[in-house]
Amino acid sequence: MSKSNNSPAAEAKSEPWWRKAVFYQVYPRSFADSDGDGVGDLGGLRSKLGYLELLGVDALWLSPVMRSPMADGGYDVADPRDIDPLFGGIEMMDALITEAHARQIRVTMDLVPNHTSVEHEWFVEALAAKPDSPERARYIFRDGRGDDGAQPPNNWPSIFGGPAWTRITEADGTPGQWYMHLFAPEQPDLNWDNPDVLDDLDRTLRFWLDRGIDGFRIDVAHGMAKPVDLADMDLTKNELLRLDDDDPRFNNPGVHEIHRNIRKIMDQYPESVAIGEVWVDDNTKFGEYVRPDELHLAFNFRLAQTLFDAEAVRDAIENSIAAVEDVGGTPTWTLSNHDVPREVTRFGDGPEGVARARAMALVELALPGVTFIYNGSELGLPNVDDLPEESLQDPVWERSGHTERGRDSCRVPLPWEGEKPPFGFGPADTSWLPIPAAWSAITVEKQLEDVDSVLSLYRRALELRATRPEFSGTGIDWYGSPPGCLAFRRHGGLICALNATPAPIPLPPGEILLSSVPIDGSRRLPPNAAAWLV
Ligand code: NOJ
Repeated sequence: MSKSNNSPAAEAKSEPWWRKAVFYQVYPRSFADSDGDGVGDLGGLRSKLGYLELLGVDALWLSPVMRSPMADGGYDVADPRDIDPLFGGIEMMDALITEAHARQIRVTMDLVPNHTSVEHEWFVEALAAKPDSPERARYIFRDGRGDDGAQPPNNWPSIFGGPAWTRITEADGTPGQWYMHLFAPEQPDLNWDNPDVLDDLDRTLRFWLDRGIDGFRIDVAHGMAKPVDLADMDLTKNELLRLDDDDPRFNNPGVHEIHRNIRKIMDQYPESVAIGEVWVDDNTKFGEYVRPDELHLAFNFRLAQTLFDAEAVRDAIENSIAAVEDVGGTPTWTLSNHDVPREVTRFGDGPEGVARARAMALVELALPGVTFIYNGSELGLPNVDDLPEESLQDPVWERSGHTERGRDSCRVPLPWEGEKPPFGFGPADTSWLPIPAAWSAITVEKQLEDVDSVLSLYRRALELRATRPEFSGTGIDWYGSPPGCLAFRRHGGLICALNATPAPIPLPPGEILLSSVPIDGSRRLPPNAAAWLV
């Protein structure tokens, strides 16, 4: 599939399509439900492709839809080469790819190569086999420490809370070895030193690429290699769901050989793209993931962690660009995803949070490189931080002993139409997480009709970004600006100004192309607002 009339071969030689693409992240459980079970699925997504075309995105990233017992929303994969019946099965995926391509929308999907589900046939075989067997060697099994091996092999905690090890009962009923799981116990880590693991990923990559998938988001792309000694770690800095660069569980040097091997396979499909989830702060270490023979792109999460503060935003932008510059990589931008608080809430919630999220959408979409929009950002959805406890499904809730609510608050299903929950999410009158009644004011239906809505702002911004020559060029120059504000100019000519202060500021010279709030003849940019000028 190609947006130009070039043949795929000619296009592959010119600039790859993904270098300035806008990706839309679909969290499938929460997007749209077609079969009335209250859980979103691929049929629901298929029925909304017209909406995504209208929005103007270039590509989709689907969070995992493979066969899974859903201990972590599908990030626990039991069969990486099949689609879970909950999402509609593989025929539905084939139909989705075909229809998305007919609308000039590419389709990428999540791959989870760091771990499998406990229901994956390899893990079932490993449990039935003996210590030191080839079946155990696909995972990270170790004897325990202390008397009778009753203590875990090291002190590593799981990212979701509790130890990163679970002890098994051997087939003969005796207490047995321990296996590693950096995430939930239902997500055993694979042993990437075992060649079977890459061979199997090779099959999986080809399986989907041959079916027309345009690429992959690679889950935990900084975590697949583990240190040989599995030494204890310093626990003083450990926090749930967070890492720092010295954490021995992640970013081990062996990971780069794995990415080079993946790239060799991807290069046989010249238009495909691999995007790594890379939680690495240091710019040099981050850049290593996007060297020309490794990942095509890596998520930079600086903007998704930044509050509404012009200095912090500028710092995030400068560092995200610097991180990939030396290796000739492409910067990536995202304000949120299914793991972090939604930007409206991060920026202060209520009307002020929405105003700031609108402004930051213009900042993000003005930048050179690749943008990822998390489903619901285009509607200005906030987090739902008061979900009833009995509805919470993130494993973090249980693993933290009910002290951390986890990430469900940013995964509430989208409101499509009508006046009452679940707002046309599906044919049933329920949704897997309850949708707040107050979202009746921000349904897709209402926002499509309102020229001042967040959705209308996104549509206009995406259209301009795709069509105006001022969005060309790979660099930006900073303009001088008052404290608490920022302004930069794309090399193609677009100027973006942000006012994060409580007082209006004069705009830089130029014709206003788009602004996050109306601007009157005084040409002053109000507080919590951004504007594009040419
Ligand atoms: C990162 C994913 O984004 C997150 O949702 C998941 O829980 C972990 N990886 C484990 O797969």
